[in-house]
Amino acid sequence: MPARERLYSDLARRPASPALAELFKLTERPDVISFAGGFPSPDMFLPEEARAITRRLLAEEPAAVLGYSPTPGFSEFREFLAARQSRQGMAATGDEILVTSGALQGLDLLCRVFLDRGDRVVVESPTYLGALTTLGAFRVELTPVPLDENGLDTARLAEHLEAWQRSGRLPKLLYTVPTFQNPSGLTLSIQRRRHLLELAEAYGFTILEDNAYGELRFDGDTVPTLKALDRQGVVVYLGTLSKVLSPGIRIGWIHAEHEIIERAILLRQGMDQCSNSLGQLLALEFGRRGLIERQIRKTGRLLAAKAGLTLDLLAREFPAGTAWTKPEGGFYTWVTLPGDIDTALALTRCIEEARVAYVAGSAFYAGGGGHNQFRLCYSQPSLEEIRRGVPRLAQTLAGLQR
Ligand SMILES: Cc1ncc(COP(=O)(O)O)c(C=O)c1O
Repeated sequence: MPARERLYSDLARRPASPALAELFKLTERPDVISFAGGFPSPDMFLPEEARAITRRLLAEEPAAVLGYSPTPGFSEFREFLAARQSRQGMAATGDEILVTSGALQGLDLLCRVFLDRGDRVVVESPTYLGALTTLGAFRVELTPVPLDENGLDTARLAEHLEAWQRSGRLPKLLYTVPTFQNPSGLTLSIQRRRHLLELAEAYGFTILEDNAYGELRFDGDTVPTLKALDRQGVVVYLGTLSKVLSPGIRIGWIHAEHEIIERAILLRQGMDQCSNSLGQLLALEFGRRGLIERQIRKTGRLLAAKAGLTLDLLAREFPAGTAWTKPEGGFYTWVTLPGDIDTALALTRCIEEARVAYVAGSAFYAGGGGHNQFRLCYSQPSLEEIRRGVPRLAQTLAGLQR
């Protein structure tokens, strides 16, 4: 063991899930059709518009572009985001918005604001892998609650809460992606949204609503966000432009009561001080020109086509007994295979033989499970790649199941 080993923190020594790093490596292999990373389709970016806006910004506002921004973000951009939240039924003022370096930093900051080691946090089972990594770093007790076709099973949550109240170990936070969930693609029904809010009010925990995909609906009726339904201030909202505009500009935001935002600002000063200025100004200009909303509509149409094709191919190519979710928006479908195949073990063969990648189900469970499941992200591959990739995947997995 190298002498340096003893110098590492407990956190750095933890056997981390390698899944996320592997995903990013796959982006560099052009021979692999990747259904793995939750990445937007590159043909949805707006490079021409970005170039023209950046050139103008550098010519007209060089000090703003190249300098620090205020820690909570440029006021004009906060106002812009607040107005956007308000239009979506989540009344906000600029000082209730904190611009972050992506939603994931927003989650990290909120963990710093709310959590101490050993606190109980409820997560969906399965849930977003990045959130498991972030929450895990705070040494909290992650308690998974299962999903069914209507999203988080709030009846089961209610049973847990009753038991936790008796033992004096109620959760502080519940992290949820209620709309087009990562990894399942499922959406929490309106009845369950109301139930979840009632539970948060009754038992005094905060709901962290991560709405990374909620604007990307291509089917079914709109469901209000938890934040829009919240009357008692129990919901803190995480937004991002990563899935609708560009993940590279690293722009997300927290929408919460001013008091929470103030605490987060103080803690953020010891992290990265502020979000990158160019990203904020670029996003603001995209927004002012109506390009964000235009992109959302365009992306929705593209996702509808890709999801439709993926689900058709799953039905045609996979054996009887295979189940998958039917998302009404977002990037993902969640596949459950019959039999006792281990999708984590099968992944290497799928990459090497079929040249197709997915993320194995087990990566998304805080409490174990998902060995016969996997997540398919249909956003990044082209229609042509989906057409070639899904049958190849089905064939390789069928070979392994025999
Ligand atoms: C549910 C969810 N939240 C947050 C993120 C990360 O977003 P950002 O790029 O804004 O940090 C992702 C990305 O995969 C996600 O799926």
